Parts: sequence; structure tokens; C-alpha cells
Amino acid sequence: MTGPTDTAPKKLFIKTYGCQMNVYDSERMAEVMGAEGYVAADAAEDADLILLNTCHIRERAAEKTYHELGRMRQLKVDNPDLKIGVTGCVAQAEGAEILSRSALVDLVVGPQAYHRLPALERAARRGERAVETEFPAEDKFDHLPARPKAQRGPVAFLTVQEGCDKFCAFCVVPYTRGSEVSRPVDRVLAEARDLVERGVRDITLLGQNVNAYHGAGPDDAWTLSRLIRELARVDGLERIRYTTSHPRDMDDDLIAAHGEVAKLMPYLHLPVQSGSDRILKRMNRGHTAEDYLRLVDRLRAARPDLLLTSDFIVAFPEETEADFTATLDLIRAVGFGTAFTFKYSARPGTPAAERAALPDDVGDDRLHQLQTLIATQQRAAQEAMVGRTVGVLFEKPGRMPGQMVGKSDHLHAVHVTAEGIAPGDLRQIRITESARNSLGGTLA
Ligand code: 5AD
Ligand code: SF4
Repeated sequence: MTGPTDTAPKKLFIKTYGCQMNVYDSERMAEVMGAEGYVAADAAEDADLILLNTCHIRERAAEKTYHELGRMRQLKVDNPDLKIGVTGCVAQAEGAEILSRSALVDLVVGPQAYHRLPALERAARRGERAVETEFPAEDKFDHLPARPKAQRGPVAFLTVQEGCDKFCAFCVVPYTRGSEVSRPVDRVLAEARDLVERGVRDITLLGQNVNAYHGAGPDDAWTLSRLIRELARVDGLERIRYTTSHPRDMDDDLIAAHGEVAKLMPYLHLPVQSGSDRILKRMNRGHTAEDYLRLVDRLRAARPDLLLTSDFIVAFPEETEADFTATLDLIRAVGFGTAFTFKYSARPGTPAAERAALPDDVGDDRLHQLQTLIATQQRAAQEAMVGRTVGVLFEKPGRMPGQMVGKSDHLHAVHVTAEGIAPGDLRQIRITESARNSLGGTLA
């Protein structure tokens, strides 16, 4: 393997962990380095620069990162010009510690400083080992290059807000991504229009606390619902979603928008974490189970076919059987399309990490019960779609000949075998069957 030469473009390989925001960040990092002459490598083995875009929400995230780095040792032996960078929330949390623990790493960049990547890469090529985990005064989005004009797939993420001021007792996000910042309205609209010009028809607005959005607008700060109403006016943009939301920030107009804005899809990810008021309080969530249930009622009054998904943590410190039963009760009362389920694990530096953990087997058992219930609800939600006609935006060919795969309005994967469907087509599909993790249907 040879290193970069003047003739061959340098190759970049990004490995992305964790949330959708990291997926978006990886795209933007690829674009930043694209402006520096890098093209995508098919595999880590071919790369001149590898970036591990890490997630600190994973259990033992830092350990897993070091482990992954260890597995890259041979790549550096094979290609002495290879540079390795750690980005994302583990980079933010560990900082220079990563350089001292792993000699393989050349650069460490926190999520707020991706616009500094080219300078750090050049420093690495000079043999320096660079760390950038400050929350710089400048807005990284002002310093990232304009997104390239190439056509792209029909579905895109667009980060509108980053960071979190909620400080849930279990969560590292306020420490790794910093306090809440919203991007200005004009930037968001310009990026959305640009994506649409390049073929995007479905945009998910991203933020750790996206519904707390308060970006500077032409007059005053805009709420998320105002932003969504404006985005809905963009011709060619057919679908809007947003994630992740906090129940406390679902304001009246955002709820109303679910009934009034046709392009706002009937899908909402609304983490509740627990159904026990005692635990919600200890988690510092700032709402009760009853608040959440009332909110769900109001959302469904606005949009009766709204599919809700959520996040749950079981075995949070001091969670009793009664607390856990309250969580199961809440799930039964709501009926979720699916959920991300987690066994609590302590994240260093968070308040809950100081509290005594429950025995492992208690957590395992509760997680299993919760997942069984959620799986039942997921099946029921999918089966309820059979016989209905829903919009499906097709993205790519399926595994079977002649088959295309897309996402329904409710974000179910849908397989259809039919002539004349191309990626980017939005069609009305009659759902005819429900399989394990997807639906099947025919042109309506
Ligand atoms: N332990 C278990 N799950 C966690 N999450 C965040 N922090 C922890 C933790 N310490 C889960 C929450 C959050 C999701 C993204 O990850 O459910 O909503
Ligand atoms: Fe973490 Fe809570 Fe903020 Fe979500 S709302 S990012 S769980 S602190």
C-alpha cells in the first residue's frame, strides 16, 4: 500500500457510531475533507485518513474506542502515511487523554470543531498530534464549506440545533455537545433548498433537543413549528420530520402543526425514559407520566394516525418493581410503533453515576420484559397498516429482482415489486403484508 501521491486523490474512511446527528456530521466532515481533495475510500484498508466518529451514549464508549483503535494497528504498519483521527462525543469527553493512551491517533476533534479538520489534518501530516475540543466562539456551520452540488439520494438529515440544557441525570450530552445552540433560520432554509435542488424530498431536522429550537429569524427567534411551516412552503420538499424531542418542549403550535402541515409526517420520536413519576423525578426529566399521557392525547387529537416511538431506560438507580411496572403500564397505555430500549449504565461525570446501581440480572430481566412488550406493539402497529394506502418514498432496489425499498409516511420500511419505480419516487402504496421488520405492498 502506498501513501497519497500528487496524482492519486487521498482517500478518507469515516466510521460512524451512534445517533443520526453523527451520520449528518460524518457527511459534513466528508465534504470538508472533499474540499481538501479527499475522496471516499471503500474500506479502511484503502484510506489515507481514517476518522472514527464516536458516540459517548454507548456503554463503555471510551473503552470500545480504544479497542477499535487497537484493531487498526496493522493498517498503520501497512501504510505509514495513514493518519487516524477520533471525532465525535468520545473525542470531546476524552480529549488529549486519547493521544496519551493511543499512539496510533494523530488527531482528536470534538463535534463543535469539525471546520478545523483540514488544519488539523495538515498538522498531522507535518508529524504533529493535534487536539481540538474547545467550544469555539465561531459557529462551525459558518466555516464549513458550502455543500457540494452533486445529486444525492431523496432522504437527508439537516442539523438545526445542537447541545442540550436539560441535564437528565443519566446523560452525557450536555457535557459532550455543550449547551443548546440553534442555527439561524436563513441558514437552515438555504441548506434545505439546496438539498431539494439536489434531489432530496424528505428532510429530518436534527437536534439533541430539536423541539427547543429557537433560531434567529428575520424578526425574532423562531420556534420549531414556525420553521416547519416555512419549510413546508419549499416546492419539491415533500416530507418533514424532526428528532429528537423532549416532552417538555412540545408547545401548542408544534402540536397543532401535526394536524395542519400536510408535509409534516405522522411520525414522532418522543422519548419518555420511564413511566414512574418517582424515577422521572430522579432522572430530572421535569415531567410526570400523566403529563406525557396527556401530551400524547393532544398529539393524537391533532393527528389521529400519528405513530409514536420512544426511548426507555430500565434499572435506573433505585428503580423498584413497582416503578418498572409503571413503565410497562405507560407503554400499554400509549402503544408505540417501536422504541429504543436501554439498560441503565453509569456514564462518568453524570449525577446518576454517583448512585448505587441495581444488580445486573435485575436490569437484564426488566430489559427483556420491556423488549418483549415493545416487540408486540411493533408487530401490532405494522399489522394495523395492512389494508391501508400510505405514501412511500422509494430509496433503492431491494434484494429480490424487480423489488424497490422505501419508507412509508410512518417510517416503516416498505418493499414493493413493480415496474417503473425509481429512487426518489413518492407513490401511494396499498400495504398487503407485514413481515418481521418491514411491510410489503403494491401500487395503489
Ligand atoms: N444509560 C442507558 N441509556 C442511556 N441513554 C442515555 N444515557 C444513558 C445511560 N447512561 C439513552 C436514553 C436516551 C438515548 C439516546 O440513550 O434513553 O434517550
Ligand atoms: Fe440527554 Fe436529557 Fe438532553 Fe436528551 S434531554 S440529550 S437525554 S440530557
